Amino acid sequence: MAVEMHAGLASDGGSKLKMLLTFVDTLPNGSEKGTFYGLDLGLGGSRSSILGCQVETQPIPQHLLTGSNEELFDFIATRLKIFIEKEGNEDVLPLGRTRELGFTFSFPIRQISVSSGVLIKWTKGFSIEGTVGGDVTQFLEEAMARVGLDMKVSALVNDTVGTLALSHYHDEDTIAAVIIGTGTNACYVERTDAIIKCQGLLTNSGGMVVNIEWGNFWSSHLPRTPYDVALDDESPNRNDQGFEKMISGMYLGEIVRLVLCRMAQESDIFGDAPAPSLAAPFSLRTPMVAAMHEDDSPDLREVGRVLEEALQIPVAPLKTRRLVVRVCDVVSRRAARLAAAGIVGILKKVGRDGSGGFAGGRSKGKPRRTVVAIEGGLYAGYAMFREYLDEAVGEILGEDVAQSVVFRISEDGSGVGAALLAASRSPENQSTF
Ligand code: BGC
Repeated sequence: MAVEMHAGLASDGGSKLKMLLTFVDTLPNGSEKGTFYGLDLGLGGSRSSILGCQVETQPIPQHLLTGSNEELFDFIATRLKIFIEKEGNEDVLPLGRTRELGFTFSFPIRQISVSSGVLIKWTKGFSIEGTVGGDVTQFLEEAMARVGLDMKVSALVNDTVGTLALSHYHDEDTIAAVIIGTGTNACYVERTDAIIKCQGLLTNSGGMVVNIEWGNFWSSHLPRTPYDVALDDESPNRNDQGFEKMISGMYLGEIVRLVLCRMAQESDIFGDAPAPSLAAPFSLRTPMVAAMHEDDSPDLREVGRVLEEALQIPVAPLKTRRLVVRVCDVVSRRAARLAAAGIVGILKKVGRDGSGGFAGGRSKGKPRRTVVAIEGGLYAGYAMFREYLDEAVGEILGEDVAQSVVFRISEDGSGVGAALLAASRSPENQSTF
């Protein structure tokens, strides 16, 4: 991972890691003031009320995920307008001042400024026509104008960057953020002089947040199973997002299903008649894998329930249920350990893995405190996954260094983080890392 990060920083196309510039060179530090708005376009997650914010979730109707660009952005702009009208505190902004929005867009975008960017590709099952290659900010601003909403996008950020911003607001030792949810990705603070592909890049802080897009990481060192190959073959984005397909919530359930399917073909552990649902792609979702994996009842009741409800496998014997738990364990443990290795790769890249003495972030022999924000259901809501990830980080770094690394769980805060970034760009709130 560290080697590929170097390559992706050296030249565009130099690695499967895009290492996207974000133009975020200042992060919120807790002193931001004012009324700012955040919009998070992504999948899943429930929102809690954080930071004295009013937060509202709107599920995107399924047909819009594969519909037209205009329909999607009109839907978003309309919901946003309704939210603002409901909020009813028009007087918080001085008359004539446009509302400022931080827009979290959880897909790879190529940016030329902090407030605009072009969509490189859709991931996670989105496939909306007419968006790839276009400026996402422009799409949203045009839709806002169509519905009569006076608002401008002052920060367009990846969800990892929003998460980093929110964590940095609370804790200035935060240097990276990782998402392990429906998709997976990470961003971190890089020195501008290390971003070779953009010579002469100058920022006040001397740093810039880089969006790694690690979901697309691949290496010949990664062992690939026939199940990974089968999953890739049936996906709409073949040969793409290989790391994501081994780690994130969109895919873990499907990998487990593919393994169980093969077991059903080669043995009679699920009885004689193959269950039709077992053969249906994506019939087993990752939350069900977590529920089966964490079933601590002596007769594995929950496992029986999931097998019956999701896959229509009637009363599997205890021995079979134990095997199913074992499969869930292997698949999620691999995912957690790969994510852990990715995190250590980032720490290595920025010299916080304890390998480089003083340059490695040690002062007076003690490793420096390093905070990594983590968001997404797999880490926050799946205890076994979290345990495996923490354990692997400890194993790779050694306990001494691992103790200086703090994982800060951030719950669905990337939209709030984007609003904070909009705030920190405002003249009255200037700050640097
Ligand atoms: C996207 C990233 C995003 C991640 C987590 C991936 O599929 O490519 O941009 O950060 O999902 O939401």
